[in-house]
Amino acid sequence: MRIGILGSGLMGGKLGTLFARAGHDVVFSYAQSEQKLKQLARKAQGHARAGTPADAARDADALLLAVHWSRVDDVLKQVGDIGGKVLVTCSLPMNADNTDLVIAHTSSGAETLAKKVRRAHVVSAFGTLPSEVLFGVFEAKRRSSRPTLVYCGDDKAAKGVAATLIRDVGFDPVDAGPLRIARYLEPFSLLMGQLAYEGEGGPELAYRFERFPS
Ligand SMILES: NC(=O)c1ccc[n+]([C@@H]2O[C@H](COP(=O)([O-])OP(=O)(O)OC[C@H]3O[C@@H](n4cnc5c(N)ncnc54)[C@H](OP(=O)(O)O)[C@@H]3O)[C@@H](O)[C@H]2O)c1
Repeated sequence: MRIGILGSGLMGGKLGTLFARAGHDVVFSYAQSEQKLKQLARKAQGHARAGTPADAARDADALLLAVHWSRVDDVLKQVGDIGGKVLVTCSLPMNADNTDLVIAHTSSGAETLAKKVRRAHVVSAFGTLPSEVLFGVFEAKRRSSRPTLVYCGDDKAAKGVAATLIRDVGFDPVDAGPLRIARYLEPFSLLMGQLAYEGEGGPELAYRFERFPS
């Protein structure tokens, strides 16, 4: 697939690198220096290049949104029309100092985003993990017991694309249902962050959901 990365920091930089290593064509966009985007593309060891958000969206099969909540409107303005495209978001609706969700309980960042880009197909995925686990999960991806990763969205085909990307990084995708489930996933992401950075496990922490027979 052709994947456009909108926000090439901790999450976007790592996920874009792993998508390229899994064989996808990746365009890294939206950082404060073009130099950084070029360096990411060089180091990705696959088909990757640097571009603008509009370049990232052109002919993309999927876009990854990985910016701070305060940058969402700016990146969407730069990207232009993304009608009909798959927009996978790991962006959490955090306040300026990243201490709290600014949207929660009755809505979510993902649902708010979907209202901003009505004709795109939004899937919420990858936000429930600290970025530190991504390379380790990718390197261990042939193991039979993989960590799970929950995702949600309203469009079946878009969810299929997201599930492929989740698998390519090394997780077992778990379909949590429609996009409104993001109101529960986003607070769950905060729990994961809390456990990763303040618990005893350290940031190298992923999760696995098991189904028990009734
Ligand atoms: N980090 C995690 O472990 C994690 C986990 C789950 C969810 N999330 C969510 O994922 C999203 C991205 O987080 P992140 O940690 O990847 O953030 P980040 O490292 O700060 O990356 C954000 C990207 O946006 C770019 N950017 C910021 N201001 C810009 C501007 N004025 N012009 C152009 N580019 C600009 C940054 O450029 P520079 O690189 O040049 O600064 C960077 O590439 C957030 O919504 C966060 O809540 C993060």
